[in-house]
Amino acid sequence: MHQPGYPDAASLKEAAGELASFPPLVTSWEIERLKERLGEAAEGRRFLLQGGDCAEQFNGCTSDEITAKLKILLQMSLVLVQGTRLPVIRVGRLGGQYAKPRSSPTETRDGVELPSYFGDIVNRPEFEEHSRKPDPWRMLRGYERSALTINFIRALVGGGFADLHHPEYWDLGWVEHSPHASEYQEMVGQLGDAVQFMETLTGISVGDLSRVDFFTSHEALLLEYEAALTRMVPRRHGWYNLSTHFPWIGMRTAAADGAHVEFMRGIRNPIGVKIGPSVEPHEISGFINPLIDALHPDDEPGRLTLIHRYGASKVADYLPALIEAVKSTGRRVLFVCDPMHGNTRSTDKGLKTRRFDDILMELEQSIEIHRNFDSRLGGVHFELTGDNVTECTGGARGLTDDDLGDGYRSLVDPRLNYEQALEMAMLIARRITG
Ligand code: PEP
Ligand code: CO
Repeated sequence: MHQPGYPDAASLKEAAGELASFPPLVTSWEIERLKERLGEAAEGRRFLLQGGDCAEQFNGCTSDEITAKLKILLQMSLVLVQGTRLPVIRVGRLGGQYAKPRSSPTETRDGVELPSYFGDIVNRPEFEEHSRKPDPWRMLRGYERSALTINFIRALVGGGFADLHHPEYWDLGWVEHSPHASEYQEMVGQLGDAVQFMETLTGISVGDLSRVDFFTSHEALLLEYEAALTRMVPRRHGWYNLSTHFPWIGMRTAAADGAHVEFMRGIRNPIGVKIGPSVEPHEISGFINPLIDALHPDDEPGRLTLIHRYGASKVADYLPALIEAVKSTGRRVLFVCDPMHGNTRSTDKGLKTRRFDDILMELEQSIEIHRNFDSRLGGVHFELTGDNVTECTGGARGLTDDDLGDGYRSLVDPRLNYEQALEMAMLIARRITG
């Protein structure tokens, strides 16, 4: 499902072959380390923060955008460390998040029908025939951008960029606009203490601590690309998808008998699966049992993460059934909430947006529901950017539908901006461990 119809089979084969000859983007030992940590998160000993663009764009592979994204993720993670008193696993939705499932394979404008835009790794967004034609060589361009992004991030986190206790790295101008201003100021003050405390205790600076855990993830949608980067590793058993540490299966391609589950079943990476309201509570056992049997037969710690994304208005009706269904399989999984994809709406002008308060409400309810059902929310999954875009409404500055025009840059889903993302982390940090 959701694969582009490449018009030229020979050039697809050639492009995939070239990709298969290139070095991997990540290593099997990093993948195994992440899996171990996700297993600890499932037991409540760590917390997962996963975030980044809905879709990366090739022209977003710039120093500024990558730096801004890394900065917001690191700062959010510090806020979460401070609030939860747990080590936080940082996973970017980046370095390969280039392919998108679409609701329709084609798009029609003024009587002209063309393939939909499936993300930069497949085709181009402009509504013109040559732009929309799926081009397999774009997989090579995607691989190169991913390599550039991951290379730069590795250098930044290893080289002191993560020196977060300098206040000039924190943009906190927004704080005063919130009714919670004094609470936020207090948290920021305590953050400095927490960093110092951690450094005194461990003798390691926060910069060094960051080096050990920044991982990448993307939706493993485009199977030609994923397969070309899936390899056997010397002295290890099985196959690893070396395009990313943590691939996930989107809600639209999560059928147990589908190609994506068949592919993911055969790799050793930790994997995520998105679960949304298209599966009703009374159907969830029938859906989840074969899926867990296929993907998680050995109950290996950290192997399977279920990312639920029901929406603020549905989570109370749907999540309990999911928790119970998983429990009855006897298998351990990590539960993560994606509070973005169930809360998308359109403005009067037809812009896709999300309300800050809906996102917060789904998270708060999820934390509570897990607790009430003797389960645990072990992580969060956001669509966000480090830039000052205006795509989601609400937050301390109270962005409204009318404010969205100026800074709306996403070609697909709306993201939290820097301030909204940092504020979200502050609002949920204390609730997680309650
Ligand atoms: C996404 O994460 O951008 C996405 C498409 O999610 P879902 O599969 O849950 O709709
Ligand atoms: Co999205």
